Amino acid sequence: MPLTIQPVTETFVAEVGDVDLSRPLDAATVETIRDAFWHYGVLVFPGQRLDEESHLAFARHFGPLETSIGVYRTDVAPRIREDLSDISNLDRDGRIWGADSRIRRYKMGTRLWHTDSSFKHAPARASLLHARSVAPVGGHTEFADVRAAYDALDAEMRNRIEGLVAEHSVFNSRARIGFTDFIEDERSNLKPVYQVLARTIPESGRRALFVASHAGRIHGMADDEGKALIDRLLEHATQRQFVYTHRWRVGDLVMWDNRATLHRGTDYDDLRWPRDMLRATVSDEVNSCEREGVAVPG
Ligand code: OGA
Ligand code: MN
Repeated sequence: MPLTIQPVTETFVAEVGDVDLSRPLDAATVETIRDAFWHYGVLVFPGQRLDEESHLAFARHFGPLETSIGVYRTDVAPRIREDLSDISNLDRDGRIWGADSRIRRYKMGTRLWHTDSSFKHAPARASLLHARSVAPVGGHTEFADVRAAYDALDAEMRNRIEGLVAEHSVFNSRARIGFTDFIEDERSNLKPVYQVLARTIPESGRRALFVASHAGRIHGMADDEGKALIDRLLEHATQRQFVYTHRWRVGDLVMWDNRATLHRGTDYDDLRWPRDMLRATVSDEVNSCEREGVAVPG
């Protein structure tokens, strides 16, 4: 039975049915999914029963996997293997995290608009998030279409950001929420990186804004001026007309193209409801400045 692709919105989100991602897929099916993914940017696969292996095997169709930044935390043992990111509110024993726990304070950073791993030299291309349990109230994930947002910029702003490069660091996004207690291993392994402010997505040829809460300074600009520009672009890109809100059901696998989207988690009662999500992440392999042919500052 061929799979079905049902648009949720015309150009941003589609739901894919009649496919079992826990089994190996034939080449034609993979090609159909890939084409839809490059077109839309967000795909929802409801009702998937995935174990860690099948989740990762499906992710590999979109490029090489990246390793969770949890590996830089040597103070706590992770709950899951290092090629998956733990997007839950649970500790190693499956209990809801403590109100004052470091991990809870740190993960509040995902409530800010971001794109995954922009603070790594090679940022993330695709993220594939699978819901094993969901909160009955809240805990949605919002996605903003940064291609549509780019298209909606006026010519003056497009010219202004052309060739500009921003410094991205996980310390920037965490500073925004008042989290600063990184340990030394994290500090030395998570040095700031440069990323362009606008990039072309090779598979679709579409241009996209590249901003995130991880972005701090803009190279060659005064700190406050750069920050104001980043905030202005974030505000522009996340206006209602560019945003889709995903309301999770158990078994949903949602995959997004980090080059085409910004996303953020929304509020829920995280001390009451377990919300268990695992993310596989595909690397974009090279730095965005390199891809765009923009010189990386000093
Ligand atoms: C992520 C993420 C937000 C959420 O998985 O990368 O930011 O709603 N998730 O859990
Ligand atoms: Mn994220």
